[in-house]
Amino acid sequence: MSSLIKKYDKAGPRYTSFPPVPFWKGPPSEDQWFSHIDLYYRDDLGVDLYIHVPYCETLCYYCACNRVITKNKEKGTLYVELLKKEWEIYRRRLQNVRIGAIHLGGGTPNFLSASELGDLLAQFKDKIDFKRFIGSIEVDPRTLTRDHLQVLVEFGFKRLSMGVQDFDQQVQKSVNRIQDYQLIASTTKLAKQLGFESVNFDLIYGLPKQSKQSISETIEKVICLNPDLIAFYSFAYVPGSAKGQNILKQEEMAQGEAKRELYEIGKKQLEQGGYIEIGMDHFALKGSYLEVAHTKKSLKRSFMGYSDKKSNILISLGATSISNTPGSYIQNEKEVANFRQRVENGQLAITVGHTQSEQDMDIDVTIQEIMCNGEANISKMRALHFWNQIEVELAEMEQDGILKLESDMLYVTSLGNTFVRNIAMVFDPNLRDRSGDQPKFSRTI
Ligand SMILES: C[S@@+](CC[C@H](N)C(=O)[O-])C[C@H]1O[C@@H](n2cnc3c(N)ncnc32)[C@H](O)[C@@H]1O
Ligand code: SF4
Repeated sequence: MSSLIKKYDKAGPRYTSFPPVPFWKGPPSEDQWFSHIDLYYRDDLGVDLYIHVPYCETLCYYCACNRVITKNKEKGTLYVELLKKEWEIYRRRLQNVRIGAIHLGGGTPNFLSASELGDLLAQFKDKIDFKRFIGSIEVDPRTLTRDHLQVLVEFGFKRLSMGVQDFDQQVQKSVNRIQDYQLIASTTKLAKQLGFESVNFDLIYGLPKQSKQSISETIEKVICLNPDLIAFYSFAYVPGSAKGQNILKQEEMAQGEAKRELYEIGKKQLEQGGYIEIGMDHFALKGSYLEVAHTKKSLKRSFMGYSDKKSNILISLGATSISNTPGSYIQNEKEVANFRQRVENGQLAITVGHTQSEQDMDIDVTIQEIMCNGEANISKMRALHFWNQIEVELAEMEQDGILKLESDMLYVTSLGNTFVRNIAMVFDPNLRDRSGDQPKFSRTI
């Protein structure tokens, strides 16, 4: 294993889109974007909505999310008005759409007060198809109140994801994210009492000051609280783009094999505690909705992570958020000020995007199958102009024991789960063009 980690630990995309954002070639116009939605809209699927709230009260030094740190709550109030305006643009153009799911993410959606959150969600109420609605939210437990949870329950939200990260006090101190076990325990209990059916914990391995023992103690506490889902993220150390990470001491972080060992320790304990590894960095309790979807090989993946259901259309509101239809992606302006200016002018705040070629779509499907199901039919990949190289690399990976090839099928082995990003990278033509600067991705291990 250790030689494989040395060999495959390199920078690479996470493939939440194909091509990855840095390789996008240009957005469709606003009119083209709306016509894509019209073309692909299906009433039985509705649309999924993602709403990005960028604000957080304090900076967690490890954070690589799109967020703005401020204690000024008025910013949240003004931002809700902007989100309403942006939604009005969609509403006018898409009069008959139904909403099947809303995901609130950030930043920290509960930076907004409970009444602001209620006011925001009320904008969508007449379009929500409550018979099949999925409402989910990412929260910061330190600023979450009972009122927030109650508003969410009123609007049919049943899935809650909490940033837990690590329970060790030394680790928490070093990353400026202090929250005690009791807070997480009481929030989990309250959410379940109020009617949330699914509680996810986000954890990170590879943070400063983590040791085999501290990880093991954190996981033990996590298992005691019995969340049905756990995201056990590899720490993405990208100090070039996430400037707050420059405060962290690199010599205090496990890397390469030592980092992977932290994951393996956690994984073993989680498996003993009744959790199943369902995909890259994610665990689900046996019988939970994601474990069932994993068993049925019907897992879906999007910018928000894994899910059991997904519409073919994702409309995302807010600064930096990414929307997609089959064949196209758009991203909103990243800076709130630019986002504001465009929306105040009555326009969508599209800044970058991409229209997939047929080849992009085929690669996209292959990579998603590898990431969600651990297997893919790769027959269409033979048409890629660098297929000869792909064949050689896949044969080497097969020799390394990380995948198996049987005629047109590729199967990721259990050893290969660690290297799933590397396997996906083989099919990505963008990574083969070595001319010019390559974008900076996090490391695959
Ligand atoms: C938007 S935040 C979650 C909600 C809320 N802001 C909070 O922190 O509790 C999404 C998650 O991304 C993960 N995350 C952030 N920066 C990361 C990094 N550099 N590497 C790996 N995971 C990271 C954290 O686990 C975090 O909980
Ligand atoms: S981890 Fe969450 S709370 Fe911390 S800075 Fe990032 S988005 Fe904000």
